[in-house]
Amino acid sequence: MVISLAKRDLITIEDLSNQEIEAVFALADEMAEGLREQSNVCRGMIMASLFFEPSTRTRMSFEAAMNRLGGRVISVMEMRNTSLAKGESIADMARVVGSYADIIVIRHPWEGAARVVADYADVPVINAGDGGHEHPSQTLLDLYTIKKERKTLEGLKIALWGDLKYGRTVHSLAYALARFGATMHFRPSAGFEMPEHVIRKLTAEYAGRLERYNGPKEEKEKGLIPLDAIYVTPSGPHQLANIPAVGIQIELEKGVDALYVTRLQKERFEPSAEGLKKGYPVVDKKLFKEKGFKETIVMHPLPRVGELAYEMDSDPRSMYFKQAAGGVPIRMALLSLLLGCKTVDIPESKVPSFAKKMEHPVYKRETGVKCQNEKCVSVQETEREYIKHEFQIVSNEPLTLRCVYCEHEIHPPYIASSKWHQGLVENKRYYKADSFMLGRIKPENLIIFNSEEKAQHQGFKLGKRVKPVGNAK
Ligand code: NCD
Repeated sequence: MVISLAKRDLITIEDLSNQEIEAVFALADEMAEGLREQSNVCRGMIMASLFFEPSTRTRMSFEAAMNRLGGRVISVMEMRNTSLAKGESIADMARVVGSYADIIVIRHPWEGAARVVADYADVPVINAGDGGHEHPSQTLLDLYTIKKERKTLEGLKIALWGDLKYGRTVHSLAYALARFGATMHFRPSAGFEMPEHVIRKLTAEYAGRLERYNGPKEEKEKGLIPLDAIYVTPSGPHQLANIPAVGIQIELEKGVDALYVTRLQKERFEPSAEGLKKGYPVVDKKLFKEKGFKETIVMHPLPRVGELAYEMDSDPRSMYFKQAAGGVPIRMALLSLLLGCKTVDIPESKVPSFAKKMEHPVYKRETGVKCQNEKCVSVQETEREYIKHEFQIVSNEPLTLRCVYCEHEIHPPYIASSKWHQGLVENKRYYKADSFMLGRIKPENLIIFNSEEKAQHQGFKLGKRVKPVGNAK
């Protein structure tokens, strides 16, 4: 069945189904076979390349890809060269650039910025990295490399290494691997663990089973032992029989298919990372003598800054330069699909395309509930005026809201119902979010407050029934 991806955005890796990802790879193979023969595919098209953070590989491979396809590129590389420096909003920039170009590729330090561009531009938008959030086109070329080396994407064992907190590439990669039924070992440097909101998605939405490390603390501190492991079966909810009945350490000795190394994202936090860098694990020949790594390929999105020894370059298991080279055919395939210059052919039997995406109720009332992530686009001074705070209600125990822009979570303390007050001031009551009242209010009627003052300011009084859920009889 022929499917068009024309006009679609790629903001998160979840925007593509597994079958669409495989179809991008098939087209990338075709492109790779004749890189110089594609110069009519996107003739007459313009790509806007907006990179407001440093980039070598991503920007140049996108630009090389568009050039190889016969299209043209307009670009800006620094915020200070645009009207953003004059205080222009991302939304206004997006509208304007969308009227100059046929597709926009954007890298920006604020988490959720690419989503805002997609909301306001009339052309397809590709997220080339939004702060520490996601980097989905990098994931495409990471998976492409894994598939080439391992011949499949299903059911692999992958270790993610280094800065899992701020590394956007590992967030997108983990979501994709989960959908292909991977077992993942997380080996963060101390203090740079996978964020809880990412773990929640992997466990709740991809039915992954989480195993936390509970071995000796000293071993953990050495940084070589995975802190957590996630096991996912490709077909959805776990059948217990499929879960390996072994601990993380035993799993480790059996080896992993790929070790994905990342650098410390020192530009994303204060104070300076120099002290932290001391404990950062290094991948070198000595480590790769370990039994568990015998068949393991080494990957890295690059740039490397000390965590991956140069002596590994001659090792046949090292894949990072090959990985980077895949960026051009992958991005050629992606651009030509989103521009509608190519279509994908997906076998009929495989068409139920999305690995069932979980739908959550949305909360977007103006009650002062804001994202707490200071890097989120929704809380920036230039964007605050027009961006409406919007969340998915991802859990009721405890009440958990996920920001639709950066995906960070908040746990607001007070709730009320819009149904019950019906304009009668005396009926306006608010309750604690951990009381059983939460279960009584339909999501569409839910009103959420950050503080009692906010609730009272809007005319609500504290309701009587405020017992926490656990005590409810
Ligand atoms: C990565 C990025 O920008 O997130 N690089 C890349 O796109 N190749 C990884 C990094 O900068 O560490």
